[in-house]
Amino acid sequence: MKETVVSGIRSTGKLHLGNYYGAVKNFVQMQNDYNCYFFIADLHSLTTHPTPADLHGNIKHVLVEYLASGIDPENSTIYIQSDVPEVAELYLYLNMNAYMGELERSTSFKDKVRANPDNVNAGLLTYPVLMAADILIHKATKVPVGKDQEQHLEMARTFGNRFNRLYNTEYFPEPYAFSYTDKLVKVPGLDGKGKMGKSEGEANAVYLSDDPETIRKKVMRAVSDGGPTEENQPKPEAIQNLFDLMKVVSSEDTHQHFDELYNKMQIRYGDFKKQLAEDMIIATAPMRERIQDIAKDDAYLRQVAKHGALKARESAQKTIREVRSLIGFKSF
Ligand code: ADP
Ligand code: TRP
Repeated sequence: MKETVVSGIRSTGKLHLGNYYGAVKNFVQMQNDYNCYFFIADLHSLTTHPTPADLHGNIKHVLVEYLASGIDPENSTIYIQSDVPEVAELYLYLNMNAYMGELERSTSFKDKVRANPDNVNAGLLTYPVLMAADILIHKATKVPVGKDQEQHLEMARTFGNRFNRLYNTEYFPEPYAFSYTDKLVKVPGLDGKGKMGKSEGEANAVYLSDDPETIRKKVMRAVSDGGPTEENQPKPEAIQNLFDLMKVVSSEDTHQHFDELYNKMQIRYGDFKKQLAEDMIIATAPMRERIQDIAKDDAYLRQVAKHGALKARESAQKTIREVRSLIGFKSF
């Protein structure tokens, strides 16, 4: 029996290099070796109250970009989270033994409260419970995600284990974050601080759908500094971020070449950025072309979503039947 894999991306915008290298690249690689479920986390995106039109458009972006990246709907189950209402039912059960204190301590919750103090809703607080339901609904053991999701995986294990203890069962297996690289990936943004993200502003992220000219412009404008003033000087965050990006998209030789120039104080940021932009353009080219073609074919997208929902519901309904029985909901 193949191990089960689940992962999802929120429908909050177009996919960027962080989503690709942190998550989707692993999805594509995993689909031959595992029983894979890849979904569009549209319920998760409701925490920020999108308009119906924006929500629909963003669901389409993620679906198109999953397919354009090489996820094969014949091989993996691709579905939209809200098409599987069993997830919301499991979320309700798991909420009964998720505690305020631990939810309030979650780093992503604290970050979001800080960023949007006027919209601290209960959905935001229980976000990790919904994520645990996404994973446990298919009894997955491996979850390909970027570094920022590690704590959420730990919470998913806690909620699954707590359910097991409460009902004296070993029903839910423990899910772990997964990457083919030796460490979980964190792709930095272009604004000199922190990770690349869908909602950090246009200038921070390079999208898979960006055309070459846009990529060149974004990279040339990326935050840098006046250059090293001493040999072998430690790199400030903005420069380290550009080197980290190069490590992701360029060859090891290219990265090493510019690293040596930096250490010898001979680096020219113009050349460095030009090379980085060209390597990003090459890395995204195959996807960029497919995105445009697939986005035109609504009939195909509808068929993929329908087929995926059927397969995902089959697995989810089995879990919900068993969970209901464990809880004690039995028919008379
Ligand atoms: P975003 O943070 O851009 O809104 P999501 O939260 O929907 O994107 O993340 C979807 C997936 O992409 C997750 O597995 C997450 O870990 C991964 N991811 C997002 N940003 C990055 C990044 N900068 N580096 C590595 N992985 C990332
Ligand atoms: N929380 C994830 C993020 O923000 C998205 C997500 C929701 C997810 N449910 C999931 C990832 C289940 C993996 C498995 O990136």
